[in-house]
Amino acid sequence: MTANFDSARFRHVLGHLPTGVVIVTGLDAQAQPVGVTIGSFVSVSLEPPYVGFFIGKSRSWPDISKGTLFCANVLSDAQTELCWRFAKDPVDGAASRFDGLDWQKSSSGLPILPGVIASIDCAVESVTPAGDHQLVLGRVTSLNTTDVKAGAMVFYKGKVGGVAIHGV
Ligand SMILES: Cc1cc2nc3c(=O)[nH]c(=O)nc-3n(C[C@H](O)[C@H](O)[C@H](O)COP(=O)(O)O)c2cc1C
Repeated sequence: MTANFDSARFRHVLGHLPTGVVIVTGLDAQAQPVGVTIGSFVSVSLEPPYVGFFIGKSRSWPDISKGTLFCANVLSDAQTELCWRFAKDPVDGAASRFDGLDWQKSSSGLPILPGVIASIDCAVESVTPAGDHQLVLGRVTSLNTTDVKAGAMVFYKGKVGGVAIHGV
């Protein structure tokens, strides 16, 4: 069936749905850190513990997925620069989006970025075609929250901000 809207309208309307923001990180074949900003990350199943996200045309994902592991870094509302940095090419001739970042290793040895509020280590369970994206299902192997006090980042109508919820 032909849709009665174009991709701009699709983006505009779906932009009304706020999402959290993670940076999915991993290591490439040379053990170099790789990462990409993702807004479609979601909790999927408790038993077994699954999370998921949708990845489109991506240069980083093939490198990450070869390692069969990834780490979802949950961004705080103080990390706007990181959010855009991992959604664009490295700036000003930098070799990598990780240049100048003092990242730590998770329990699986994957990059945890400075200042994130939580990180979720996963093993790739399945990758399923989903239109022009792929659905990546991850089995959670390790969970971590940090002592960062900032609130979570929210992506809404093409911009990032924070949550305002009483009591959190
Ligand atoms: C807030 C935000 C959320 C995003 N969410 C996704 C997403 O869920 N899936 C996706 O494929 N790209 C998403 N992107 C776009 C990618 O980050 C962007 O296309 C990036 O350049 C891909 O880099 P890569 O080619 O190294 O994978 C998002 C970008 C931003 C800023």
